[in-house]
Amino acid sequence: MSLPTPARLLAAVLCAVGLLASPAARAQSSLIQNAPARRVLSLNGSWNYIIDPYENGFYDYRREAFDQSKSGKGGYYDNQKPSNAQEPELIEYDFDHSAALQVPGDWNSQDPKLLYYEGTIWYKKSFKMAPAAGKRYFLYFGAINYEAHVYLNGKKLGMHRGGFTPLQFEVTGQLNSGDNFVVVKADNTRHLDAVPTINTDWWNYGGITRDVFIAEAPGTFIKDYEVQLAKNDPTTLMGYVQLNGPAKSGQTVTLNIAEAGLKQTLKTDTAGRATFRMPAKKLSLWSPQSPKLYAVTLTNGGEVVQDKIGFRTIATRGQDILLNGKSAFMRGISIHDENPLIPGRTRGEGDLRMLLTWAKELGCNYVRLAHYPHNETMLKLADEMGLMVWAEVPVYWTIAWENQATYQNAETQLSDLISMGKNRASIVVWSVGNETPLGDPRLKFMTNLVKKARALDDTRLVAAALELHRTPDNVIHVDDPLGEYLDLTSFNEYAGWYWGGMPGEITKYKFDIKYNKPVFISEFGGDALAGYHGDANTRWSEEYQEALYVNQLKMLGTIPGLRGMTPWILADFRATRRQHPVYQNGFNRKGLISSTGTKKKAFYVLQEYYRQQAAKYNGK
Ligand code: GCU
Repeated sequence: MSLPTPARLLAAVLCAVGLLASPAARAQSSLIQNAPARRVLSLNGSWNYIIDPYENGFYDYRREAFDQSKSGKGGYYDNQKPSNAQEPELIEYDFDHSAALQVPGDWNSQDPKLLYYEGTIWYKKSFKMAPAAGKRYFLYFGAINYEAHVYLNGKKLGMHRGGFTPLQFEVTGQLNSGDNFVVVKADNTRHLDAVPTINTDWWNYGGITRDVFIAEAPGTFIKDYEVQLAKNDPTTLMGYVQLNGPAKSGQTVTLNIAEAGLKQTLKTDTAGRATFRMPAKKLSLWSPQSPKLYAVTLTNGGEVVQDKIGFRTIATRGQDILLNGKSAFMRGISIHDENPLIPGRTRGEGDLRMLLTWAKELGCNYVRLAHYPHNETMLKLADEMGLMVWAEVPVYWTIAWENQATYQNAETQLSDLISMGKNRASIVVWSVGNETPLGDPRLKFMTNLVKKARALDDTRLVAAALELHRTPDNVIHVDDPLGEYLDLTSFNEYAGWYWGGMPGEITKYKFDIKYNKPVFISEFGGDALAGYHGDANTRWSEEYQEALYVNQLKMLGTIPGLRGMTPWILADFRATRRQHPVYQNGFNRKGLISSTGTKKKAFYVLQEYYRQQAAKYNGK
């Protein structure tokens, strides 16, 4: 066994005094790590549904919740059937004779009458199952927008708020051997104190939008793990394994990365946790140019959990972003979790791979997954395809800053996002929000989220889309106090669209940026209706957008610390704020790709710029 190097000794001391996020403090989420890779029974497919704008299936006529009543019965979750054919009881719903929606999928894009429906829809899925003795079972949803109440065989399992992170319920002992049914009340009504709040520039698609399955696990199983390089130390692998179950203490767990000749036997403590730090000199580091992933195997008795993990370091030094110690330029694009060809929430790996393939065609090595946690599959695809990721929570515009429950909701979404993404090499930035207005309550809210992110994971950068202001002397000032707490100076600017005159005029602007950090343009852009042509000053035309990109890139090129950008946006997307009947028709048209998949002229402007940047940064 090798003696601890001074670095590792120091790290151990810093862990002990809590200055470094020790593996012990890291994981707090209750989600099963890498749940989709466990032994699962998929519940995707057709689910019967009932539209319930008055929530009659949840409340009685006195607005008392049925599932809070003495019997706990009375709601649609009973999935009740007449029990007596001769004198059938009065039951005013019947899932099995109701229409069906596809899961995963939002409901708005599946039925024209639901296009702009916001409210409650009940889903029901019947399935057969033979639960095995000694095994544990978890019902897992990738995401349900927004508030979900979940029932199994008529019994309430729980509720969840947040439309973009997984929810999971243990159902061991609650499954019948044979027929079972799950009922979900999904409600995408927007609320001021929610996260996101009532106003967003994306359509509030509702429903069970990501995969649903039942995961099986042994009585005591590997619930959570992290296997990553230590902060700024490409020679040390660190992490933990967390067992869950009666026999979690004093267990032997094996970590094996066969291809790299790395194997470690771990012993769990009384809390079922084993942490490790081990030398890992032989690892090939992950980068967009060579997205190397290793098969990582964790063994706990007869249980084997497999993951594919890449290893890289990300840091900043002055105005440089260092990927594996080398300065990099983040050639990015912003992406919504929407397939423009549907248009609707992405429904599976095919949709996700299409979006990332378009980003690769653009010459990207980076994507901003806006403005909320995207599908876990998207993160794994980014690992595989070699795209770095900015991952974000929907603290967007004006949130209820002084509402403690709103803060807790935001923090929980952040924790779940970090838990879901902590083993993904592609994720290099956690973003705690977008375009949030200056003010002390906001600063407190946002800096608490920053602290939380750093406490959960100190190996990645933390950022947000900051506010900026302009002065009559054509100077754009970036001195948002939140910038002090972040690793990047990232901001959205819409010169040439919302302000600043025509595209040809914007190069008059100069930047005054307070912080000596890498500068990152998290958004710029303008709308263009694909196929509509005019000159560079004809708003909504492809030529206007093209000229805007040409001049934006010229203007931004004057910023010495510019180290990356994610222009707004890869593809047109549904947004009800956009109601110009000719050019928008309910869509934000700032995409470089239209709703029919057509590349607009500006796509090629950015593609050429990225070709040059790649050459300049040696293809990084
Ligand atoms: C904002 C916002 C986006 C929005 C975009 C736009 O900056 O972050 O969500 O869609 O600008 O106005 O098109």
